[in-house]
Amino acid sequence: MRFRSAIVLLAGVFLVFSCAKKPITSEAKLGLIAEKAMVVSAREEASQIGLDILKKGGNAFDAMMATELALAVTFPFAGNLGGGGFMVYRMADGSVGSIDFREKAPLAATKDMYLDENGEFLSNLSTKGILASGVPGTIAGLFEAQAKFGKLSIAEILQPVINLARNGFVVTPNQAERLQRVRNTLVEVNGAETFFNQDIKSGDTLKIPILAATLERIAKNGRDEFYTGETAKILAKHMQDRGGIITEEDLAGYEAKWRDPVVFPYQDLNIISMAPPSSGGMTLAQILKMIEPFDLEKMGHHSPEYIQVLVEAERRAYADRNYYLGDPDFVKIPVDQLLDDEYLKSRMASFNPEKATKSEDIAKGEFAFSESMETTHFSIVDAEGNAVSLTTTINGGYGSKVFIDELGFFMNNEMDDFSAKPGTPNMFGLTGAEANSIAPGKRMLSAMTPTIVEKGGKLWMVVGTPGGSTIITSVLQTILNVSEFGMGMQQAVESPRFHHQWLPDLVNFEPGSFDSALIQTLKSRGYLINEANSPVIGKVDAILVLPNGKLEGGADPRGDDKAAGF
Ligand code: DON
Repeated sequence: MRFRSAIVLLAGVFLVFSCAKKPITSEAKLGLIAEKAMVVSAREEASQIGLDILKKGGNAFDAMMATELALAVTFPFAGNLGGGGFMVYRMADGSVGSIDFREKAPLAATKDMYLDENGEFLSNLSTKGILASGVPGTIAGLFEAQAKFGKLSIAEILQPVINLARNGFVVTPNQAERLQRVRNTLVEVNGAETFFNQDIKSGDTLKIPILAATLERIAKNGRDEFYTGETAKILAKHMQDRGGIITEEDLAGYEAKWRDPVVFPYQDLNIISMAPPSSGGMTLAQILKMIEPFDLEKMGHHSPEYIQVLVEAERRAYADRNYYLGDPDFVKIPVDQLLDDEYLKSRMASFNPEKATKSEDIAKGEFAFSESMETTHFSIVDAEGNAVSLTTTINGGYGSKVFIDELGFFMNNEMDDFSAKPGTPNMFGLTGAEANSIAPGKRMLSAMTPTIVEKGGKLWMVVGTPGGSTIITSVLQTILNVSEFGMGMQQAVESPRFHHQWLPDLVNFEPGSFDSALIQTLKSRGYLINEANSPVIGKVDAILVLPNGKLEGGADPRGDDKAAGF
């Protein structure tokens, strides 16, 4: 049963959504409803561990740490100790903030490290193996945020996660299939003795005792265990013994950073999202500001007109993203100009509803400015009303495929998110520029978009997703599905999605999910469509505060995602 977490929506639910613009249909799925608190994540065990922490008196930041590390155990595809991410929060009193625990390029990284002697991009090196990793930020980010806002002790938070790693978790069919598929590559990268070179079947209980031991040391010694302690020494040695460049100095120098989130209004909503080095908030803001003058509700959900307006705004926003955005500690980003209302209005002036704009005719916007597959998201609301939106990644599925057998986790291949060769696409087909070139200690540009939305000054939605370059457009559509088209949270998450990112000049549709007449209309207006091979577009986990104050979870059935609440 694909939608086993969903409950069929009955007629009475219309009352719950009475303030929505349009009532949701009787076939719509309703997610888990909870009175007070909720965690929605990529794995049932991780949502449950987070919820148990909340029940025990912990707040959203304690649950965040438990959920994230439980994902590192049960969802090694993306959950991690060897990666990084971003977290946006909103406290019950309305104050907001965000933390950046994105990986950094090692100190020995160089601009041309993935180019051969002829200047050609060696994408294999930035995506797989020992040179593909940035310096991990996850432990630094979790500890920094929990220390500032959390209530429980680290030992209390980590014990259930350690137990999970030691006693094991049940492998899902999806997981067994993926582990089977990647097994040869893991052996190729790590040798035949590597932990995941075993026959793992759906329904098996998988224990990762070595990861339990690593987590136990972290519980005992804190953040420094990972960055300067025994774990740091083992990690740096593992990388160097195999020709990698991450050193103890790199780990010791890693710091998570508090950053001001990108905050902007859209109609009656106030949106709080991640600032650079993620492009998520800026690009989401540009798209929403460009589409705001259009009456999307009147156009209709998934009408050709609606899709065209979004696609054209996405095309223009991604062109700016790819040129201007990078690590703000290294490059100056023209934030005010990029978000200027007049500028964004002028960007959409060339939109013609009869005919697709060509990406080759769209470049970065011009204004006066002087230069001086895999991720996971979870959403939490606690009983006090604090909200946490956290997206974390090791980039590709199982990251660089380098598994640190002495420690029990995969390393990221986040270096591929840099523009290794400006103008040449990375593994998400994103074509970047100088602003995102490699430099020692620099953070690579991300598309992760952990987002919190307020309505009427109150918490309304907590949302985010994996999906590489499609993250921003998945978050966008999920918000619009509810705000413009009156869907509930689960229905908004399940609704099929489409995506455009400027280059390549293609509109990607989830295969088999859109009407063929619609596709024909778009083709006749000059859109190039990719329906056959689009990867899954996002895997959204979100929470909506209903008009009656209860919470509705949206757990994406495209994965094993699950909401837990009380
Ligand atoms: O930071 C980014 O934008 C990418 N590394 C995210 C990768 C991702 O979402 C892969 N999952 N499908």
